[in-house]
Amino acid sequence: MNQPASNGGPRPTTAQRRQHLKRIIQVFPSLVLRTYCRIRLLIMGPRFLDVIGNYLPERGDVLEIGCGFGLSGLYFSSFHHHRVIHGYDLDEKRVKAADAAAEALGLTNARFAFGDAAHLTLERLFDAAYAIDIIHHLPREAVPKFLESIYERLHLGGRFIIKDVDNTPAYKRWVSWMTDRVMVGLDEPLYYWPVAELCTMLHQAGFTVHTYPMPDILPYPHVLYVCEK
Ligand SMILES: C[S@@+](CC[C@H](N)C(=O)[O-])C[C@H]1O[C@@H](n2cnc3c(N)ncnc32)[C@H](O)[C@@H]1O
Repeated sequence: MNQPASNGGPRPTTAQRRQHLKRIIQVFPSLVLRTYCRIRLLIMGPRFLDVIGNYLPERGDVLEIGCGFGLSGLYFSSFHHHRVIHGYDLDEKRVKAADAAAEALGLTNARFAFGDAAHLTLERLFDAAYAIDIIHHLPREAVPKFLESIYERLHLGGRFIIKDVDNTPAYKRWVSWMTDRVMVGLDEPLYYWPVAELCTMLHQAGFTVHTYPMPDILPYPHVLYVCEK
């Protein structure tokens, strides 16, 4: 695979990283999927991905919950060959597409499999974990147990990075709600946790937590949670 690597070599420039994201999208075989990924990147911009990636260790095993089509996992594994991404999602079609994309890109350090955040049965420990726009899709009652199960699966000192959306201001919450409803339909669970409530649950699970609003031109109330075990 022809890509700049930061393993001992020069760090990839912003232009190289953006170019590589385009390349990742191009390996998806269907136009619908490529269009979805481009929309996803409009909402969850490359800048945000880079911020999240900077909190992840450059080597070791990283758990991703709700990996979708693998866009972020493929990106985070591309420049750090000793960072192994283990992505899980409830949607088997997405997992398959993510795996096929990893193969097309020649990435052996990005693996994707079926996994339900509400019933994680992972045996091993991880060096870090992240979840991008997944917690608001979980049934509310499943969230405390989900956070506890991530805590249990991390080595001491391991980070859990969450990107989710706040429930304020109201107009931004409505924009998020409408976007999500278009994607998942009317029957799926959807709940935007107030930052303070999610922080309380993270503390109860055992994490120390710092939160950072991630302002954007688009009206989505993005929040970053940096949690440590
Ligand atoms: C908004 S998408 C985000 C996907 C990816 N994290 C990204 O940023 O592109 C939410 C994802 O969560 C997945 N999901 C929803 N409920 C889940 C659950 N209980 N366990 C695992 N994944 C779940 C969906 O299948 C979907 O791929």
